[in-house]
Amino acid sequence: MKKNKGIILAGGKGLRLRPFTKIFSKHFIPVYNKPMIFYSLSILIYAGIKEILLICNKDDIKNYKKLLEPIKVKNKLKLQFQIQNNSTGGIAESLIIAPESFKKNVNKILLILGDNFFYGREFPKILNKIITSKQKNAYVFLSPVSNPSQFGIAYLNKKKQISKIIEKPKNIKSNLAVTGLYIYEKKCFEYVKKIRRSKRGELEITALNNLYLKLNKLKYFNLGRGITWFDMGTPEKIFDVSEFIKLIEKKKGFSISSL
Ligand code: DAU
Repeated sequence: MKKNKGIILAGGKGLRLRPFTKIFSKHFIPVYNKPMIFYSLSILIYAGIKEILLICNKDDIKNYKKLLEPIKVKNKLKLQFQIQNNSTGGIAESLIIAPESFKKNVNKILLILGDNFFYGREFPKILNKIITSKQKNAYVFLSPVSNPSQFGIAYLNKKKQISKIIEKPKNIKSNLAVTGLYIYEKKCFEYVKKIRRSKRGELEITALNNLYLKLNKLKYFNLGRGITWFDMGTPEKIFDVSEFIKLIEKKKGFSISSL
């Protein structure tokens, strides 16, 4: 039977988080009271994904295994690891380097960036609904930002359909960021082979999303007011998200993403 599977990108160089990232992956950095990676991993688990591939740098694999073993057992996960040799080969490269055994029998793929944070009661249900539907489209999740030049940005036409996505635009005409969560169907493994590396040498996820768009197979979901999203790639953001989690946990009396 075909399965819905998850991929977490937890490699990269973490240049904006030096000096910590000289010795370990940024995804181990505490965000309030948990390692950063817990927040993205919990999204996959809450959406009902049991088979997960974590992509990381060679030096970090041992610590990821140690950190995630109890979570794997507790949540009955099938957790696989894949080293990304060139730590900045690009987000879409994950679909190339995923082992053949992982690519087999895939229905939908939920790809999430390890430095992204999503919070919203209804969100897991929304994701689950998309991955269990029979549709063959890819999905991106949009959220407005005040600094569009730092994200992949979606442009909508008059019919409110995505007309294009530009990675880190200089000329800003939209503020709708494409967040670090993507849903694909199994053809993504074929399509990703058609995209070329960008000037910075990466297989850009935006190039893959634009290919889906060209094929008329890209849909989007607007996170709107109900779902909070942060990218945790800088010290300021880690501080902001930590404050956010602390406030919610104190006020509501429950723990966010405690795995
Ligand atoms: O956060 C959302 C944004 O993430 C999107 O709006 C952009 O379209 C997308 O390109 C990405 O932009 P960033 O500049 O934030 O990507 P960054 O290089 O910081 O990497 C994001 C995560 O993916 C981070 O957890 C590290 C991991 N990563 C990244 C690359 C390039 C890898 O594991 N391997 C890689 O090769």
